[in-house]
Amino acid sequence: MSKKYFTYKSLADVEQASRSLGVDITFEEKLEAVYSPVRIGGRIIGNSLAIHPMEGCDGTLDGRPDKLTFRRWERFAQGGAKLIWGEATAVVPEGRANPRQLLLNRSTMPDFRKLLKATRMKHREAFGRDDDLLVGIQLTHSGRYSYPKPLISYYHPHVDFLTFSDKKRGIRINGDYPVLTDDYLERLEDSYVDAIRIASDVGFDFVDIKQCHTYLLNELLGARTRPGKYGGSFENRTRFIRNVLAKSKEFVGDRLILASRMNAYDGIPFAEDPVTKVGVPLPYEIPYDYGFGIDRMHPMKEDLTEVITFVKTLMENGLKLLNISLGSPYYNMHIGRPFDRPPIDGYHPPEHPLVGVERHFRITGEIQKAFPDLPVVGTGYSWLRKFIINAAESNLRRKRVSIIGIGRGSIAYPNYVKDALSRADVKSSMVCYGASFCTDLMRSKNNAMGQYPTGCVPRDEVYARIYKESIRKVNGSEAAETEKEKEEKEN
Ligand SMILES: Cc1cc2nc3c(=O)[nH]c(=O)nc-3n(C[C@H](O)[C@H](O)[C@H](O)COP(=O)(O)O)c2cc1C
Repeated sequence: MSKKYFTYKSLADVEQASRSLGVDITFEEKLEAVYSPVRIGGRIIGNSLAIHPMEGCDGTLDGRPDKLTFRRWERFAQGGAKLIWGEATAVVPEGRANPRQLLLNRSTMPDFRKLLKATRMKHREAFGRDDDLLVGIQLTHSGRYSYPKPLISYYHPHVDFLTFSDKKRGIRINGDYPVLTDDYLERLEDSYVDAIRIASDVGFDFVDIKQCHTYLLNELLGARTRPGKYGGSFENRTRFIRNVLAKSKEFVGDRLILASRMNAYDGIPFAEDPVTKVGVPLPYEIPYDYGFGIDRMHPMKEDLTEVITFVKTLMENGLKLLNISLGSPYYNMHIGRPFDRPPIDGYHPPEHPLVGVERHFRITGEIQKAFPDLPVVGTGYSWLRKFIINAAESNLRRKRVSIIGIGRGSIAYPNYVKDALSRADVKSSMVCYGASFCTDLMRSKNNAMGQYPTGCVPRDEVYARIYKESIRKVNGSEAAETEKEKEEKEN
């Protein structure tokens, strides 16, 4: 049974908890800053709130947005945030993380056009205008988390043995496993450039070249041990993204805003302690050579020196919008998304979730401070439930961030922003409570299409049904559903 960390009834309770833990998380009750428009490139968004990329694993097998994709995006469009950060969308088929991940190419392009059109229409219907809404798409290659075949850019001794794509097929990484060649990466640069061009043709306002969550481009940033032109020195590790940005410059122009969601700290791998079930760091050597934003002598901590140089490099190459994230959803999930109940492939949190929330706020704050004029989107707010808006207000006033992104909270409660900004009653019964059922579904591949779609199981009937079906298929029982219902009653 998971420990219940979030036991607060009022804002004063959370403030008190933050103080007693000694974490720098502050809140404001009076809302002002969250309403502020934000300039991004040549455009202005109507408030300071965003929907983070939240993959639904619900595309068609050839990568087109399908019914549930439309439903999700339309719900986001009606929710009141003025920046919609579209989800992970592969640029090549072999780089998809699951058989239903979206894929952007000339053949799927018309479906993305329809998705964008529907999203804008729903926003206009709800708010009377959409000229102050920006919608973008996140371009990705899943690297070692590609399915069914992991595609690695270097051996990561602390992670390789955790990286396998399919237990039944037994694809595991050992010393014989192939590493992506420089030729492959060079060709992949061109696939990114093509996808950026297509995103522009679709009409997206911005395109995110994803460099977070330990997928391929994130892995390359930490590829210190890789030989050749994409590994080793800082210059080599950043070559891929610099080349992509340089090759896209000529056609990007003013219309398409270049963005990136990047990890500012990858962290080290954690695994479940077999006795306590709590996450513990796996043994590591010093200096630690496998990751980005890590203090190599004290890898449990961040070192932002390279990160800040890197952001500067990105800006020199045309970057206009940055989204900061942390950690790996596969081997240190408490860092990226503070939670109470662990996901199926996870462990109980090794730290109070407020410590994780503060890590996000602090690191993003450092980057925003280094680049005060760059619009920086912050992460890690959903665990705060109905008080997201109060932390958002405070962080904006303190200039720790320019835009607040909401991830899990947006699939749980798509209208949160609208309700919070209109000072309507924010419904506690709708907020995300960090129970990780969404991740459980994401990891479930045992249906006819090889992947279950994901969404908020406790708060959205559609996914409660899907979850029930997935559990029944796995073990023919309702055991986990009962657990879900029990959690729900307590929250
Ligand atoms: C089901 C699910 C899907 C996600 N999909 C993406 C994605 O496509 N791209 C991405 O960058 N992050 C993705 N994330 C991470 C979230 O955007 C976000 O960083 C994370 O949930 C922490 O923010 P939060 O506390 O607001 O939820 C996903 C997370 C979950 C739980």
